[in-house]
Amino acid sequence: MSNLSRLLKESWALVEEQQDKLCSYFYARMFLSDPQLRDLFPIQMDVQRARLLGAIVTAVQSVDDPERFDEYLRSLGRDHRKFHVSPEHYDVVGAALMEALRTFAGAEWSVEFDQAWRDAYAVISRRMIAGAADDDNRPPYWHGEVLFHERRSRDIAVLTVRPLQPLEYRAGQYLSLECKYQPRLWRVFSPANAPRKDGSIDFHVRALGAGWVSSALVRRVRPGDMLRLAAPMGSMVLDRRSTRDIVCVAGGTGLAPIKALIEELTRYNRTRWVHVFFGARDRDDLYDLAGLNRLAAAYPWLSVVPACSEDVNFAGEQGDINEVVARYGPWQEHDFFVSGSPPMVRSTLRTLAEMQVPAMRIRYDAFGDI
Ligand SMILES: Cc1cc2nc3c(=O)[nH]c(=O)nc-3n(C[C@H](O)[C@H](O)[C@H](O)COP(=O)(O)OP(=O)(O)OC[C@H]3O[C@@H](n4cnc5c(N)ncnc54)[C@H](O)[C@@H]3O)c2cc1C
Ligand code: HEM
Repeated sequence: MSNLSRLLKESWALVEEQQDKLCSYFYARMFLSDPQLRDLFPIQMDVQRARLLGAIVTAVQSVDDPERFDEYLRSLGRDHRKFHVSPEHYDVVGAALMEALRTFAGAEWSVEFDQAWRDAYAVISRRMIAGAADDDNRPPYWHGEVLFHERRSRDIAVLTVRPLQPLEYRAGQYLSLECKYQPRLWRVFSPANAPRKDGSIDFHVRALGAGWVSSALVRRVRPGDMLRLAAPMGSMVLDRRSTRDIVCVAGGTGLAPIKALIEELTRYNRTRWVHVFFGARDRDDLYDLAGLNRLAAAYPWLSVVPACSEDVNFAGEQGDINEVVARYGPWQEHDFFVSGSPPMVRSTLRTLAEMQVPAMRIRYDAFGDI
């Protein structure tokens, strides 16, 4: 551990237990020194109050290895363009952070601690600002019109959105969306189709209980509504050089990026077998099985195995999707794509490790931290 890293950790330990209060103070300082900054944040700040501060502390503490985080920080900076963040804002946020740390650490705060945080914050923010500057030729976000909105089950909707300006992405990537019903709350969703000539994009959204954005997208958004879409991210894309057969494992709306990948394969694949495992709790949640079956009927290299974990009346496979994948193995020679909720991705990765699938052949996206 470098000296800088040690100083950051030691000093954070002084305030860690008072994180909640420190966070309130941090925002209060920030909005006091630049009241216009309040308009960049969601209306109800309690939804995700600790998000920015937590992210800054994590980023600052990764400063030991800035090269490894370079691409992440640059893309984070690019992504901040959608929040209307400009380079001057970094100074205001940095100053509020320093004030908050000094205030809560009290007498134990030292000159070295101060310098360590200032240096680390400067390194992080420089990279984010550079990332944003490199992206200047693209809009900070795109406006898109909802063309279709179809409820496929109690909690799931498929939306088709057409960006007004060209929005380039690759099948398997994801991008964040914001809607007028939850202003300034951005959440990521995966396009469920390979890029089309008319630019339209399908999204598969599940309303999560009290979830702010997903509920609005499923229950309130209508055709004709405008959404905002931010730049695509993520690297769960096809490697055209690979000749291996493919296994895709999707849980619920985790099917979206998998469907995009299959659609891309329909444009050129002749030689790779593709097995799709699509898992859900019950038959109702296998909301796009008909679409998958149509693809499987049209392309001889594609097979689809649906499974339900909590529906004894379902005639197909029973059990969690990782168990079903294991039953159909071995899979040591395959490329894998895995997408779904964090527990689903976690258990699938565990099963694949047990089946000795090399980690380098597995690409995955989880709907949250795993
Ligand atoms: C890379 C990636 C790709 C994604 N792609 C998609 C996609 O294609 N389709 C899709 O539907 N989602 C996708 N998501 C998830 C999506 O980004 C949101 O996290 C999700 O829609 C919830 O947002 P929200 O604003 O509705 O919920 P928030 O208001 O942010 O609340 C979510 C929080 O509420 C809790 N919660 C509330 N209700 C429930 C519930 N019933 N069950 C479990 N937890 C609950 C959870 O703890 C969670 O932390 C993706 C996520 C990632 C990271
Ligand atoms: C080192 C500097 C910074 C880091 C590491 C950082 C990191 C992050 C991360 C990881 C998120 C969550 C991303 C998401 O949900 O899409 C976020 C959200 C956000 N950041 Fe930053 N950020 C920094 C600086 C700034 C600055 C200078 C501003 C300007 C005011 C800013 C404004 C926001 C806003 C408005 C949000 C979304 C609202 C929210 O989630 O509360 N950030 N930041």
